[in-house]
Amino acid sequence: MALIVWDETISVHIPHIDQQHQELIGWINNLSEAIDNGEGELAVERVLQKLIDYVAEHFAQEELLMISYDFPGLGKHRKEHNYFVQRLKEIQAEFRSGLPIGQNTYIFLTDWLICHIKGTDQKYSGFILKQSVEPEPDISAEDEARRAKIEAIREQLASGSYLISGKDVAGKILDVIKG
Ligand SMILES: [Fe+2]
Repeated sequence: MALIVWDETISVHIPHIDQQHQELIGWINNLSEAIDNGEGELAVERVLQKLIDYVAEHFAQEELLMISYDFPGLGKHRKEHNYFVQRLKEIQAEFRSGLPIGQNTYIFLTDWLICHIKGTDQKYSGFILKQSVEPEPDISAEDEARRAKIEAIREQLASGSYLISGKDVAGKILDVIKG
């Protein structure tokens, strides 16, 4: 199967998110190669699990970034993420039950990812980048502690040093919102 490559048309112009998207594409390509090269069920299973884990980590990072900027489209965006994770788990279950992973699966994974980045990720990144260049509105004193906390998370997210597992996201979201 022809492998996909990252290019500027799918850039979200947030460097560490672009880098994560490149890594995600890398894992999808690794899966394709493991199948094409006949590396065996164990190798395919290992790559598929890596892909699922990486997707969960990456989506968590994106969702936290959206929360920290109060992005209004978070709910809709999360639904898309959840759908993809669910499909990946179905693909894994089918593979474990003996069904091979074919070209249709690879096409689904690549099409979904490219459409999602172009149609959905570029919306939140545009929103964030616009906010980043606009002056901050006046804030009341009681908001300052919450803002400082959010700012610290933003900085860590921007540097790619804020690591969190998918299952911890809900708790972190509540922490940030409650302040
Ligand atoms: Fe996304």
